[in-house]
Amino acid sequence: MKAIDVCLSPDLMHLYPVQDRTVVVVDILRATSCITTAFAHGVNRITPIANLEECHAMKDKGYLIAGERDGKKVVGFDFGNSPFEYMQPQIHGAHIAFTTTNGTQAIAKANGAGEIIIGSFLNLSSVTDYLKASANNILILCAGWKGKINLEDTLFAGAVVDALSDVAQPECDAPRVAQHLYNTAKSNLFDFLKDSSHVQRLSRLNIHEDIRFCLTPDKYSMVPKLSDGVLGV
Ligand code: MLT
Repeated sequence: MKAIDVCLSPDLMHLYPVQDRTVVVVDILRATSCITTAFAHGVNRITPIANLEECHAMKDKGYLIAGERDGKKVVGFDFGNSPFEYMQPQIHGAHIAFTTTNGTQAIAKANGAGEIIIGSFLNLSSVTDYLKASANNILILCAGWKGKINLEDTLFAGAVVDALSDVAQPECDAPRVAQHLYNTAKSNLFDFLKDSSHVQRLSRLNIHEDIRFCLTPDKYSMVPKLSDGVLGV
C-alpha cells in the first residue's frame, strides 16, 4: 500500500521528504480553484510565481498577469483571484503569470517533489483517480494562511484521504484528523465553513459567490501539473 500524508501548513514542509512523492498543492479559497477553473476554460499555461514584483515584470514578456494580495486584486494586474474571472473568452490559449498570498508560495515550497499537481474540490475526482493510478506516495500540502492552518484546505485533504482509504495508508495523525473533519463536514461544507477565518475575510470583501463555487465538487475533469516551473494539463 502506498503512503499518504498531509502537511497542514507550508511552514511545516521541512518535516516532509518529497523527492519520491506526488505533492498535491491545495488552496481552496481560492488559488488552486482559480487554476483549475482557468484550465477548464482554455488557458494554455500558468506560471506560478511567489514574488509579486517578479510576477509584475512578466507583463513586459507578453504574459497576462494575475493574482492577489490579502484577497484583493493587485493594482495594474489583468486578473485578480476570483474563479469567475477565469471564465472569460480572452483567457483562451493564454499564458498567465500568477501570484497569490499563499497558494503560489505553497507551490514554491513543494519544489523538489517527485511530482507537483493542483487540487481543488472542482477537480476532486480527477485528482483522486490520478493518485489511485500512480504508484507514488502522496503528500497533500495545504496552503493555509500566512503559515497558519485553515479549515477549507484541511477539509479537501480529508476528502482525498477518505477517497483513497482502500489504497493509501496514513503516515501520521494529520491525514486522520483531516479525514475525520471532512466526514463531519461533508453534508454541508458551506455551512461548516461559515465561521472560518478566510470565509470571514472574503465575506468582508463581498465575495460570497466565490466561496460557494470553490466548494463545488467535480465541476471539472483535469489535473494541472507542474513541469519546469510551468503548470499545464
Ligand atoms: C491565497 O493564495 O492566499 C488565496 O488564494 C487568497 C485569496 O482568496 O485570494
